[in-house]
Amino acid sequence: MSKRFYLTTAIDYLSGEPHLGHAYEKIVADVIARARRSLGEEVFFLTGLDEHGQKVQQAALDNGKKPQAYCDELAATWRSFAKRLNLSNDDFVRTSEPRHKTVVQAILSKLHAAGHFYQAQYRGFYSPKEETFLTEKDRRQDGTFDPRYGEVVEILEDNYYFKLQAHQEWLIHHLEANPDFVQPPHRRNEVLGLLKNNLLEDLCTTRPMARLNWGIPLPFDERFVTYVWFDALVNYISIPAAHGDPVVLAGLKCELPSPNSPVELWPADLHVIGKDILKFHAVYWPIMLKTMGLPLPKQILAHGWWQKDGQKMSKTIGNVVDPIAIIDEWGVDAFRYYVIRELDIGSDGNWTDAGFRARYSAELANGLGNLVNRSLSMLKRYRAGVVPQRHDELAPEAEKVINATIAELRAHHLQAALQSIGSLVHRANQYVDQTAPFRLAKDPSKAVRLGPFIPATAEKIYAQLGLTESPNNLKTATWGGLRGDHDIGEPAALFPRKDQPGTVQPG
Ligand code: MSP
Repeated sequence: MSKRFYLTTAIDYLSGEPHLGHAYEKIVADVIARARRSLGEEVFFLTGLDEHGQKVQQAALDNGKKPQAYCDELAATWRSFAKRLNLSNDDFVRTSEPRHKTVVQAILSKLHAAGHFYQAQYRGFYSPKEETFLTEKDRRQDGTFDPRYGEVVEILEDNYYFKLQAHQEWLIHHLEANPDFVQPPHRRNEVLGLLKNNLLEDLCTTRPMARLNWGIPLPFDERFVTYVWFDALVNYISIPAAHGDPVVLAGLKCELPSPNSPVELWPADLHVIGKDILKFHAVYWPIMLKTMGLPLPKQILAHGWWQKDGQKMSKTIGNVVDPIAIIDEWGVDAFRYYVIRELDIGSDGNWTDAGFRARYSAELANGLGNLVNRSLSMLKRYRAGVVPQRHDELAPEAEKVINATIAELRAHHLQAALQSIGSLVHRANQYVDQTAPFRLAKDPSKAVRLGPFIPATAEKIYAQLGLTESPNNLKTATWGGLRGDHDIGEPAALFPRKDQPGTVQPG
């Protein structure tokens, strides 16, 4: 058994509709997972759903359904969403599954026994709509709360709190000693600033069962369920435990059915998350793990948020970008390509339909698609589909790009990797323009390097090149990979040109 490269995404609230933001994060993680596999590593890629909470309980009630049955229906939509994005995830966690609950309860018992929780009375404001506590600080100048909180009620209730302050110095030290722990650097600085300038307030970890019963009951006090983060974050270790991970099982000392072929996963190599949940991942989660006696994840990569036409996406405005509609019209790889090429991980992005079409047309249809199609068509026409003697004019540039791309993939600089590959596509198209077509040298490495980003297209390019293997091994990304006399397959347009929305022209 050897440790796999283990990466995770945030688990989405199943009460929302899958949109561009969810899709983006999952594609970032998927590209990293595929890139690592192409580099010869064994990978375990986990994504899934965060199912408990008041919103779901209420929605189930409104629909006259039991929460579990209601979640089962919605989960099917999310699973098919993951399929439509062509995610290569190795498991899909749902927090309502028994395998997850068992681990959450084992952790709660262990931490309770070790004195990490205390009970205290909470008096304050609560927004049932946003499922969040509010303080005086959240009031606006006129004394009211932001309308997004809906009706705010005053409550008085007992809850269990998780002690955080004792670990604050330790965490600052960990962040300082491990500059890569939170990436990109401006997010790391944000966390350090927060820790250095504020005393951490203890984390409320429960809700009274009387108010919320769609959650995991505390094993030591059945009047409460554990709430959101103590439930959701634990998915990152409950699934390794379910797969027999020795580090998690030994750390938690919990009894679980042992799988036939256990895998070594923990500590995670990478948590891919959005900037809004950074505090939970970079502050609460490390402290939770420390108290459990488990090692910390190696890296947290926080991406930015997408807007549409310069505005926050919202149902009320009606500007939520639906990835499925885009995929239906343009194909999954066009969507995958655009989101990664457009946005540097960490920055915020802005989706415009015009921007999407411009990249589709310039970089996919006229760039990559044209290069592959014209090269193979000419080979068919002038050389009966047989690869001629190699010409090496582009070899030095190709080798440079290959090395740069591999380094960028390893560092999760996905946009830069696509820029590198794009520069070679551009150069190769220029080369075809400048030279007699029949002298063309064929380079299968482009398809291999594009494999993590646009896997379905890379497969098509391989098929058109007449290659039978899969484009999933970056070791084969070398110049001159096609030997002279190799027979190519049938060229066909990869990205049909669409001069007007809705009209497809032959490539
Ligand atoms: N359930 C919690 C996460 C628990 S992780 C242990 C949650 N769910 S969410 O559905 O609200 O968000 C899931 C992920 O989608 C988050 O990482 C969030 O940042 C991301 N995004 C939601 N909207 C987004 C955009 N508009 N743009 C980019 N990502 C966004 O938070």
